[in-house]
Amino acid sequence: MPHSIYPPASTIKKVNPVKVAVIGVGSVGSTTAYTLLFSEMISEVVLIDINTHKAEGESMDLNHAAPSTTGSVVYVGDYSDCADAAIVIITGGANQKPGQTRMDLAATNARILQGIIPKIVEYAPKTILLIATNPVDVLTYVSYKVSGFPLNRVIGSGTLLDSARLKYHLSQHFKTSSKNVDAFIVGEHGDSSLPVWSHVKISGIRLRDYCEQSQQAYDHELFHQMFEKTRNAAYDIIERKGYTAYGIAAGILRIVETILKDGGSPLTVSTVGNYFGIEQVALSVPTKLNRNGAHSPVDLSFDIKEIELIKKSALQIKSVCSTLEL
Ligand code: 2OP
Repeated sequence: MPHSIYPPASTIKKVNPVKVAVIGVGSVGSTTAYTLLFSEMISEVVLIDINTHKAEGESMDLNHAAPSTTGSVVYVGDYSDCADAAIVIITGGANQKPGQTRMDLAATNARILQGIIPKIVEYAPKTILLIATNPVDVLTYVSYKVSGFPLNRVIGSGTLLDSARLKYHLSQHFKTSSKNVDAFIVGEHGDSSLPVWSHVKISGIRLRDYCEQSQQAYDHELFHQMFEKTRNAAYDIIERKGYTAYGIAAGILRIVETILKDGGSPLTVSTVGNYFGIEQVALSVPTKLNRNGAHSPVDLSFDIKEIELIKKSALQIKSVCSTLEL
């Protein structure tokens, strides 16, 4: 039989194999792991959870997706398996129940992360921590403090999801793809978030100009309602299905790929910094990412009102952090 011109499948290796660890395989963790399987940039996903039985079930199910995705391997591991992970994604902790705010989870989830982070640091002192557990800004700060990692290597999923939700509402209104919409929600991933209307663009054109050019009203009240729907989205979804997962998982994939690609469009992720004089607080502003994690915030030249609201959001996050024993 003539030799095939193709190497046997088992010898085909992905270039630069990349491992990503997912801590916690609840609805967000398992959906995130599933989403990661669609990335050509990732070759291994390790799942870590105190409930290894559940993690095994997720890993078995996820591996059955491999032939239809990129062929990445998923397996259940322990913290030592974080050793060569490029990024460790933390999704573990309690979820919001109907009627709870994200901030209501602060004490419980801070305790959980205080247990998890040292174990990651022990085995993966050079990794990038990507926090998705809520309240994500508070826990990004907690992770920064507990890990002792430099600022660039502790990133929260922040308001990337809120920005995506607002993009969706705007795309529906303007009957265009959400890929044609640029919109940033900044501040807390939570009740004190705020939209930056002056930087919203439809097909690359500023919102006000786009409305004028397409002879549509610039209906501030309507846009504000879209923001309110965005801010309340998690409450509305949790009340109906008990949790949210797809939006955040897709956002996490975007963050991971932007890091692995060593750059891309700025994303509204949460990082610890000094925001308009309020120091040592994590919140989201559009931030450039690269292979080292967070690279630099983008200067959006916020107006005075936006700055006041960002400061208010920062103080809100800081006041919850100050109630925690770190
Ligand atoms: C969300 O906004 C609950 O933070 C989660 O979907």
